[in-house]
Amino acid sequence: MLDYFALAGPLIRAIEAERAHAATIAALRLGLVPRRNAANDPVLSQDVWGIAFANPVGLAAGFDKNAEVCDAMLAQGFGFVEIGTVTPRPQAGNPQPRLFRLEKDGAVINRMGFNNQGLAQVAARLSRRRYRHHAGIVGGNVGPNRDAADPAADCAIAVRTLAPLVDYLVINVSSPNTPGLRSLQRRSALARLLQRVGEARADVAAIRTPLLVKVAPDLEAEELADIAEVVMAAGVDGVVATNTTIARPPELSGRARDEVGGLSGTPLFRESTRVLADLYRLTGGRLPLIGVGGIGSGRDAYAKIRAGASLVQIYTALVYQGPALIGRVNAELARLVRRDGFSRLADAVGADVRGGDLKAETAL
Ligand code: FNR
Repeated sequence: MLDYFALAGPLIRAIEAERAHAATIAALRLGLVPRRNAANDPVLSQDVWGIAFANPVGLAAGFDKNAEVCDAMLAQGFGFVEIGTVTPRPQAGNPQPRLFRLEKDGAVINRMGFNNQGLAQVAARLSRRRYRHHAGIVGGNVGPNRDAADPAADCAIAVRTLAPLVDYLVINVSSPNTPGLRSLQRRSALARLLQRVGEARADVAAIRTPLLVKVAPDLEAEELADIAEVVMAAGVDGVVATNTTIARPPELSGRARDEVGGLSGTPLFRESTRVLADLYRLTGGRLPLIGVGGIGSGRDAYAKIRAGASLVQIYTALVYQGPALIGRVNAELARLVRRDGFSRLADAVGADVRGGDLKAETAL
């Protein structure tokens, strides 16, 4: 098959990063990106929260903030797509430039600041999609407006609005680009927030939409232990680990490395996988986890799964490798699962953590 990205990719990367993203969304909306209907390997199929995932590789939040291209991205081979972060009211985000490529590092720094069209527009789009009975798993990632007087109330409104329209919900308390947001990860604040959003969800959905929390990679052992305890006590259905990091590993060579914002891609892999494995251990493997941060190959995705992820997500590597990456990751994952003698992917989840410490393959 002709790889259009091999042709268009260098051209797209020559354009300023945010314009390139807008052009990509426009092309996807207009149906200009050919579908890739690769068959899913049955060894990768899995039931999580009672939802049948044909493959475990998802599109991370932030790519399709406004739910404009979820079906187009599902048609690229993703097993699921997470839209958002959506805030109750539309929001412009931070001044541009606010998105920077560190190409040699396989990384990106962003300080977008939750630019999005707001709940009403996004909900209308998702309702149209539901009305047309579009299949394909879509998660909704929500957060508070920057100027919210009561951030927990914003999250509750978003949960109430989106619960009937998506397959799962994620509360984003980990973006580094909304001042104060990450303090919602602290023990008592998180417990109060989860109580509020839990009530909001109970208000609406006849079906209990799974509710997840997305955490940062920049957490100390004690903070992680608190989070694990609170999410278990609150009856949360899962955790997305992790968001971007405010850390700047010394090996970064890109000129943009000192830009303010969240770092994603290859340099994030190690820390985000550590947090993932810690959460798996702390929750005794009882909570489905979504592993995200620095995945650029099937081997990386497999390491996340062995560290405790039931599902994985990708964003930054897609910028550098294009949509052919999705099929490659799935094919390699299936090969690695079989290589290690598992009859299905679910049996590999947490394999490196269950016996004790994180093993070599995960601690890359
Ligand atoms: C993101 N990410 C993100 N996450 C989130 O929960 N809400 C959001 O709105 C965004 N926005 C966003 C924009 C851009 C430009 C990037 C690069 C990332 C974080 C993303 O979902 C993911 O957690 C990290 O990027 C780590 O995964 P990768 O990129 O290393 O595969």
